[in-house]
Formats: sequence, C-alpha cells, structure tokens
Amino acid sequence: MAPVRLLVLFTVALTSALVDTHQTSTSDANHPTAQTQTNGPARQPNIVFVLADDLGYNDVGWHNPWIQTPHLDKLAVTGVRLENYYVQPICTPTRSQLLSGRYQIHTGLQHGIIWWAQANALPRQTPTIADVLRTSGYRTHMVGKWHLGFYKPEYMPINRGFDSYFGFLTGSEDHLTHITCYKKWCGYDLRDGLDPATNMEGNYSTTMYTQKAVDLINNHDASKPLFLYLAYQATHEPLQVPDSYLQQYPDIEDSNRRVFAGMATCLDEGVRNVTTALQNKGMWDNTVVIFSADNGGQVYFSGNNWPLRGWKGSLWEGGMRASGFVHSPLLPTHVQGTKTRELMHVTDWFPTMQTLAGSHPLAGLDGFDQWNTISKGAQSPRKELLHNIDPLAEPKGQQLYNDTFDTRVQAAIRVGDYKLLTGDPGNGSWVAAPESGWPDRVPNEAGGKNVWLFNVRTDPSEWHDLSDQRPDIVRQLLDRLNYYNSTAEPCRYPSDDPRADPQLHGGFWGPWETDATLV
Ligand SMILES: *[C@@H]1O[C@H](CO)[C@@H](O)[C@H](O)[C@H]1NC(C)=O
Ligand SMILES: *[C@@H]1O[C@H](CO)[C@@H](O)[C@H](O)[C@H]1NC(C)=O
Ligand SMILES: *[C@@H]1O[C@H](CO)[C@@H](O)[C@H](O)[C@H]1NC(C)=O
Ligand SMILES: *[C@@H]1O[C@H](CO)[C@@H](O)[C@H](O)[C@H]1NC(C)=O
Ligand SMILES: *[C@@H]1O[C@H](CO)[C@@H](O)[C@H](O)[C@H]1NC(C)=O
Repeated sequence: MAPVRLLVLFTVALTSALVDTHQTSTSDANHPTAQTQTNGPARQPNIVFVLADDLGYNDVGWHNPWIQTPHLDKLAVTGVRLENYYVQPICTPTRSQLLSGRYQIHTGLQHGIIWWAQANALPRQTPTIADVLRTSGYRTHMVGKWHLGFYKPEYMPINRGFDSYFGFLTGSEDHLTHITCYKKWCGYDLRDGLDPATNMEGNYSTTMYTQKAVDLINNHDASKPLFLYLAYQATHEPLQVPDSYLQQYPDIEDSNRRVFAGMATCLDEGVRNVTTALQNKGMWDNTVVIFSADNGGQVYFSGNNWPLRGWKGSLWEGGMRASGFVHSPLLPTHVQGTKTRELMHVTDWFPTMQTLAGSHPLAGLDGFDQWNTISKGAQSPRKELLHNIDPLAEPKGQQLYNDTFDTRVQAAIRVGDYKLLTGDPGNGSWVAAPESGWPDRVPNEAGGKNVWLFNVRTDPSEWHDLSDQRPDIVRQLLDRLNYYNSTAEPCRYPSDDPRADPQLHGGFWGPWETDATLV
C-alpha cells in the first residue's frame, strides 16, 4: 500500500532532518535593518497564537503523512518550521511559561498541573503577555483552555490581560457536554468572561472555539492590532470527533488512533477557517500566526511522538520536543519555506511577541527574543534550556555527588547539544505509531539508574547514553542545575479544597474564593 512506502521514506527523511549538522546561520550583519525602536516589523502586526493540546511530534502532516492536516502543512511548509523547539511535558507548565515568559521554577508551578480543586494559580507578581500587549495598544482575546488557576476571580483570564475570554478553566472535559469531573466533583466548565456560558451542550469544542475566534476577527476594529490566543482542546482526550472527520482515514485500523487523527483534521479545518476570516477581513497581510503544541502526545490516548523517546508527562524528548511553526506574509521571502534548527523554547514567545509589538522585552524573563532567528535565519540567542527541576517528584536511585545537584531529584537541562536527565524522567520507551505497524522499543536499563546524558543534535531519539563516557559534561550540567535550583521559588502544590465543588457554584467549575479588590 502506497502510504506505507511513503511513510518509510518519510521517516528516513525525518530522521536525517532531525540529525542535520549544524547550519551555519546567516549572520545578522548580512541583513542590516534600520535600528528603530526594536527588531520587529515597522507596523504592529496582528498576532494569532494557536496552541494545540496533546498533539505529538508525530501527529502533524508535515512530520507524518498518515495524519491529514493539509492547511497546517501548507502554513508550516511555506512559513518557518521550528525543528529544535521545546515546550514543557504537561499542560499547566507550558501555558504558564507561554504567558509569563518565565520557567516553572520561577513561578512556583514546578510540580504537575493545577488540579481542578487546588487553590493555586499563575502568580500575579509578573504580567502576562496579554497584559503587555494590551499596554502596547493591542486588543487581546482568548478562546479555549486556560488551565492556569481560577480559584479567585483575579486569576481568571479576563483579569490577566485579556479583553475577552470564552473557554474552559480546567485541564480537560467532554468535548460536547463540557462537563468535567475531578475525583467526586463534577460540573460544567465553560465561561464567557467571568460568567458561566450556558446552552452550549452539544457544540463540539473545536468547531465552537473556531466559531468564537472567527466572530472575534469579524468584529475586530481593524485600526488596532489584534492578539488572539486560541487554545484548542484538540487533540486532548476524551477521544471524540464528528464522524465526518473519520472518513478520510479508512487505512488507519486502530479505531482510537483513527478518532485521534480525525480530531487533528478537524483542528486543521478550524485553523483554515480562522485564516480565511483574517483574509476576508483584510487583516492577513499584517498577521503573524504562531502554531505550537503544548506538550508531547499522550500514547495512552493515541497520541504519538515517534521517533522520539517517551511521551507526554516525561522529560524525554517525546514529552517536550514540539511541532511548531511561524507563518506570516511579513516574513522575508528568503526565510519562507525554511526550517530552523536553532534552539527555541516556549518561554521565548513572550519577548518575541513583545518585539513584534515594538516594545522592549521585560526584565527578568527566562525567554529570549527569537524574532531574528525566525525572520532572518540568525543564530538563536538561547544556548541553554532548563527543562525543569521538580522537588516533589518521587526521588530515584542514589546521589552521585554530595557537593552539587542531587541526582535523585527529577530534572533535565540542555546546554548546547547536550541534555542531562536526573531522577525519574518518566517512561522512556520508544512507542511506534499504531498505523506504522512497527514494534515499540523498551530500554534495557538498571532499575536505579538516574543519570543520562545525550547529544540531542546527533542523537535526537536518545538511544545512546553518554553519561559513563563523559563524566566531565555530566558534572558541568549538574553544576548548572545546581545554579538554577538556587534561583527556584518554593513549589506550591496545595491539597484539594472542597469549596471548589461545582455543586456549590450553580453546577459550574469557577472561583470559590472572592477577592475584595476585584469583585
Ligand atoms: C469551518 O467552516 C465551515 C464553513 O463555514 C464549517 O462548515 C465548518 O464546520 C468549520 N470547521 C470548524 C472546525 O470550525
Ligand atoms: C452552538 O450550536 C448551535 C446549534 O447548532 C449553533 O447555532 C451555534 O452557532 C453554536 N455556537 C457556537 C459558538 O459554536
Ligand atoms: C562527600 O563525598 C566524599 C567522597 O566522594 C567523602 O569523602 C565526603 O566525606 C562526603 N561528604 C559528605 C559531607 O558527606
Ligand atoms: C535545591 O535547593 C533547595 C533549597 O536550597 C535545597 O533544599 C535542595 O536540596 C536543592 N535540590 C537539589 C536537588 O540539590
Ligand atoms: C513503559 O512503556 C512501555 C510501552 O508502553 C511498556 O511496555 C512498559 O511496560 C512501560 N514500563 C514501565 C516501567 O511502566
């Protein structure tokens, strides 16, 4: 069957793309710009940030030809594909870093997600990207999944820099009923601003959020720049999609994977509708579209990250190396249709979007302005990336050194081409896509092992552990972890608060503590 052959060829191409030798990047000096205020475009562009949920590395058409995402593929391959781009292994951490430009260890959110009944949130000490874009003159709108805490009104999106909000506050829910349960508590989770959104039962999440986004674009006052943060719930479980999106997958035998693929195709259509709305409104030529996954695919719910190791929730590459691209008619033609293999991270969007808006990056961020990397093929200013340090994860094995970072603790860091993992990084198997027919590969490793070192540039699939060969690099990277650890905020991870019960709030998930200053 043709797709199988294609897939094999494609995977070979993919692997060589991943392993590509260092590009000598076009130096900035070749493309002098008139230094005005910042490096961004002369006029503030519209920024549409599309975040997909649990969409794995191998779950997009430009990485896996079985998955039909033709519109995203077209935007990706005619834009700039980010092929050395990282997010965090799970939802809340990626979203907190996107909106704050700061690592988890600097917001106290270094452990897990915010569970529905936890009185926890992205702290208000630092502004969100929506706050700073609004200050720069943008109209700011958010549609979709928040998952950054809502126990007080002051933490709701509408009080974090967004002029409008339509979406859900927790981490997942039924795509049609918009009901979600956490332990013994169940309720609706859908909001319009601060208010519960009613009468939406039966509206499929992807179509509903697309419709809201299209309405916002149609009603936008085009004299102002637009910032739209569109955080779809697709392709997060539960696996649900209208039947019409399954018809193009007769060759995928695994029925869950087929539904997953249909969800990706529906998401693709949603993005098409949003781009069409921008074109019809005459806004497209001055728009930058950023597309990103929020974390690796969840293999238990048919997501896939082949050829990467591990999956959602782990510090292996499959948990964090994301599908992403930037597409814009504003990009110079010489970068349109290119891939960048420069190191980029989700914290980088904050200062990058500030540059687009013509404002100077805020002090104290962990992100780097990547606009020159994206728009000029320049070298990434980022040489190092703290993936995370989680003081609450279960410790593993023995401490390697007593005078630097404790290797029993779960952590990972990237410095140049090298990545160090410590503690228990999560299941490190290589899980093949169901449609590939290939077997999974399970690592053969000693039980208490807690230190791994990889050259991720030459070995993106993390097959060859170098920790025994290069104790010098292990030591250097442990010292860097030790440094980052010394800058960490205390980790907040409160126990459940029964006042969160939706039955106490009209059947909806929503704030359960009031804040005198805002209500
Ligand atoms: C896209 O727009 C078409 C035409 O309006 C509509 O039928 C379809 O449901 C939309 N798709 C999504 C995912 O919103
Ligand atoms: C919700 O569904 C109803 C009925 O199909 C439809 O008229 C309405 O436009 C939908 N709303 C949104 C926001 O998708
Ligand atoms: C640290 O380890 C060294 C040997 O590696 C040992 O001599 C020393 O006593 C240890 N120090 C502490 C405080 O445990
Ligand atoms: C990180 O720093 C904290 C606070 O100084 C310390 O208690 C902890 O042991 C350090 N963690 C590691 C893994 O070294
Ligand atoms: C890790 O995942 C693989 C693939 O799903 C599975 O076969 C293996 O049992 C898992 N290992 C552990 C320790 O859970």
